Amino acid sequence: MASVTCTAPVNIAVIKYWGKRDTELILPTNDSLSVTLSQDILHSKTSISAQAEFDQDRLWLNGKEEDITKNKRMHNCFRETRALRRAMEEQDGSLPKLSTFGVHVCSENNFPTAAGLASSASGLAALVFALAQLYKLPIDMSDLSRIARQGSGSACRSLFGGFVAWETGKEDDGSDSRAVQIAPDTHWPELEALVCVVSDKKKGTSSTSGMQQTIESSPLMQERLRVVPGRMAAMTQAILDRDFPAFAELTMQDSNQFHSVCLDTYPPIFYLNDTSRGIIQLIHAYNKLHGGYKAAYTFDAGPNAVIYAPKENMKEIIQLIHHYFPAGQDTPRDVYFSDPYQVFQDDAASFDQPPAVNPEVIPIYPGGSVSRLLHTKVHDGPRVLAESDSLLTAEGLPKRTV
Ligand code: ADE
Repeated sequence: MASVTCTAPVNIAVIKYWGKRDTELILPTNDSLSVTLSQDILHSKTSISAQAEFDQDRLWLNGKEEDITKNKRMHNCFRETRALRRAMEEQDGSLPKLSTFGVHVCSENNFPTAAGLASSASGLAALVFALAQLYKLPIDMSDLSRIARQGSGSACRSLFGGFVAWETGKEDDGSDSRAVQIAPDTHWPELEALVCVVSDKKKGTSSTSGMQQTIESSPLMQERLRVVPGRMAAMTQAILDRDFPAFAELTMQDSNQFHSVCLDTYPPIFYLNDTSRGIIQLIHAYNKLHGGYKAAYTFDAGPNAVIYAPKENMKEIIQLIHHYFPAGQDTPRDVYFSDPYQVFQDDAASFDQPPAVNPEVIPIYPGGSVSRLLHTKVHDGPRVLAESDSLLTAEGLPKRTV
């Protein structure tokens, strides 16, 4: 038997992925670029065990067994990594025949899976990275990213730390559609992120169906495809130059254009809510007050905001969110900090008065509109953990179930 435990990070795109040119192979219509967030605060942890006695592949997610018999994307990841392992076993007869064994996978996200925080990206990246470790595949990360991409498109970017591009590629078979690292996490240590988890009762359109509706119906999407290559080049340069004003402007413009093509989809798709729009107004008011770029927002396919800013502005930004988007009266929210890692309840925290951003423009939102704050950093890619960290017993069953 063989087993391994790994973690993989969440990534948040600053040039958004939206639209596929091939839905089976998950080939995107445009390049995208993301920032990998610290695993201390947000990660998927995955243990895999391969044993001769396992007659099928099984998955336990957050303590509950999932039926994966129809999960084609996950099977693509098993099939591709197994094929590479089989080729190694055929070359070297002394290798254990792991490719013929079933696998048991146990995975946990250390954040609510339904909170819209890109859990399928970190989850599928952890799965594919762990399979590559289990099978001891001599494969580089960009090649592995082509397999992760077939599990969940943006998972390919979670195989790297720092600043990561997903290149669309030209080939029909997807062989050149892969992730590459633009710069490691150590390149720009001043850049930090504040994730604002925005409360929302409504279930949004799934990104898988939403993006194809956009491709089929949005004329504005053609304009997006025209401008993204220039934005990719400008964003790459902004990151290499650690040019926060250029990074901030492009990040906000690209998020806004992504949500515009959602609105231009027919029928329209809404991901932002009133609280999201309030955060957008607040960041623009804050930047205007200082006559420059102090912070940048971006929103994925949901109402949560991710605010990127240099470290020196973070305290002020947390004060602003604290003031304009207070915790609920009866539901104090958790605030998570990385470095040093700490979690505390918002009502117990003492903050200074916020800076004087024009309150005429920004109303104070109802308590609890932002349910959680996660202050985090740009950090590294997947990690291999010790055997003692495994989520599985020696028999290959979950240590914890719910
Ligand atoms: N989907 C969401 N989170 C996941 C995880 N941790 N592993 C596999 N699939 C997932």
